[in-house]
Amino acid sequence: MLLSAAVVAVIAFGVYHLASEPADLPGSDAGETAETGEAADTGGRGADTDADNPYADLYYYEADKQPRYVAYAADHPEMSPDQVVWQVDADLDKAPYTDVSLIEDFSPPLMVNKHCKLPDDFVPENLVQIATGQQMTEETKDAYEVLRSAATATGFRISAASAYRSIAYQKEVYGRYVASEGAERADTYSARPGHSEHHTGTTIDLIGPAGTLNGFTGTPEAAWVAENARRFGFIIRYTEENQDVTGYMPEAWHITWVGTDVAETMHEENIGSLEEYVVKYRTHAKKD
Ligand code: DAL
Ligand code: ZN
Repeated sequence: MLLSAAVVAVIAFGVYHLASEPADLPGSDAGETAETGEAADTGGRGADTDADNPYADLYYYEADKQPRYVAYAADHPEMSPDQVVWQVDADLDKAPYTDVSLIEDFSPPLMVNKHCKLPDDFVPENLVQIATGQQMTEETKDAYEVLRSAATATGFRISAASAYRSIAYQKEVYGRYVASEGAERADTYSARPGHSEHHTGTTIDLIGPAGTLNGFTGTPEAAWVAENARRFGFIIRYTEENQDVTGYMPEAWHITWVGTDVAETMHEENIGSLEEYVVKYRTHAKKD
């Protein structure tokens, strides 16, 4: 009885659909701008020895989340058991910015999103400045300079428009967008303070010859970055394909340093988001 009530509550809580995409970002500094229906009969049993449970054999299955898996699958009949489990493990069944968890482990890859936030006083330990003035962590700078040199050698001119941003600054940035467009729309392209990857010092917004973030999208430079960033330890954090996971519209310009091992694993294993990587390779140990 209690369990049924919990399942209903989770279903009600988990209904969330992304707002429609804006036609464009509101300025050149825009940075400052699943699938089977067989799950339904397993709710409540929760035993990982249950042969009928489509989730229990996945190494990232967490028995205490069984009611949430069932509710999420009911809401997303198109999703496979794999998608249901890793997405619930990543809290994607919860509405963004509700029941947020506080990040305590700052080791790379440092994931920040609408479901987890950095402490209000978080500042990366090893921020350094690059020639054009932006700040980023030392590892990010080293990797970025190699990436940039490789781009230059190929004939592409890219530079950093924005990198580290403090939580206080993001408050201003996000607040401006909310004032001009409202929170629902702002939330599709700008992070709330404490929730921006730019706080980590591992993120860089790139520009090419066009000189704007939006102007980077669809360019040969953007295509080169999408194809090659992983070789230097970067990922494109917000893509066309992972919008439902991240809750942001695609940002071809926003790259995040995660290290070459993580970036290459994501590529080889066809993992489309840092959220999926963290569930499958960090929170849970993969059993080979
Ligand atoms: N534009 C990205 C989502 C940020 O504000 O961090
Ligand atoms: Zn960005």
